[in-house]
Amino acid sequence: MIHSSLRTVEWKDNSVVMIDQTKLPNELIYVTYTDYQDVAVAIRDLIVRGAPAIGVSGAFGLALAALQSTANTKESLLEDLEKARKVLHETRPTAINLAWGLEKIMNVARSANDVSDLKESVVTEAKKMAEEDIAINMRMGKHGSQLFDDNDTIMTHCNAGALATVAYGTALGVIRATKDSGKKIKVIATETRPVMQGSRLTAFELKHDGIDVSLIPDTAVGYSMANKLVSKVIVGADRILRTGHVYNKIGTYQVALIARQHNIPFYVAAPLSTFDLKSRPEDVIIEQRKASEVTGVAGKKTAPDDITVINPAFDMTPPELITGIITEVGVAKPPFETSIKKLFESQL
Ligand code: MRU
Repeated sequence: MIHSSLRTVEWKDNSVVMIDQTKLPNELIYVTYTDYQDVAVAIRDLIVRGAPAIGVSGAFGLALAALQSTANTKESLLEDLEKARKVLHETRPTAINLAWGLEKIMNVARSANDVSDLKESVVTEAKKMAEEDIAINMRMGKHGSQLFDDNDTIMTHCNAGALATVAYGTALGVIRATKDSGKKIKVIATETRPVMQGSRLTAFELKHDGIDVSLIPDTAVGYSMANKLVSKVIVGADRILRTGHVYNKIGTYQVALIARQHNIPFYVAAPLSTFDLKSRPEDVIIEQRKASEVTGVAGKKTAPDDITVINPAFDMTPPELITGIITEVGVAKPPFETSIKKLFESQL
């Protein structure tokens, strides 16, 4: 069994332990938090990132907030938790998993009997969510691996791996499962400017696990596809609408467009917790990040002073560019409005 030994986030002795992803690939360092405010800063500053990983980190943050609270009635403890939920939620607006993870913990808190029951049950629920994330990724991997063939070269963008989840990964989980099923595969990772999740994290993670990976600049996607270096694409997602519109790392849309031009299948892998069945495209907030991510490289200025910068962290890939959406309960194929509905109905 190929199983990444990287564990991104974990609950240990009433504290949250996570890999500091800003230090990768140069150092593999773990940080420990006992204050939910520090977890919020860690999410905002990309110490932990990736939709499922921030969902679970948000849940752990709320569990810390419950333990930190000195409230002696359930009602005042719920008030403290509501404040913490807001602080954690405001860190990153696009990935729906964060709101999902926080809401799940709030629901458990609301149905607790008293203060001590509440504290115990939110910790138990957050730990359960972390374990379920790994099991879900492995189930997703099994479904997805059937779509990939021996000798495929698979392009991926950003990092949708162990480092974007609790462990194993979504898109990279499918790649792990495909290799595990005995098929020979290679991966091409885009570097994913400006934060370099592809080169810093995906290349690191796949190398760490002995999976054949080549790194390309984002600008070489067209070249690689035109020269038949790529047989399929797989990416993760931060939010998927019921219509099959997929929000993922900036640049995903370009990759999908070029894949379509060259008739290359384009797959998305994401758990059901990444689906937002209520919103329409105009409701989704695209996170805009700071200019310094674009005006410098590794601490060195690469743009003139006071240049105007546009730095969206995510883009939307329309359903017509997507071949299939892989989830833990099966693969949705076009037309997505019908197939996504069926996947959710199968869970009732
Ligand atoms: O800004 P990031 O690094 O949090 O963006 C992450 C992505 O866009 C991932 O592709 C997405 O969250 C899916 S992770 C399984």
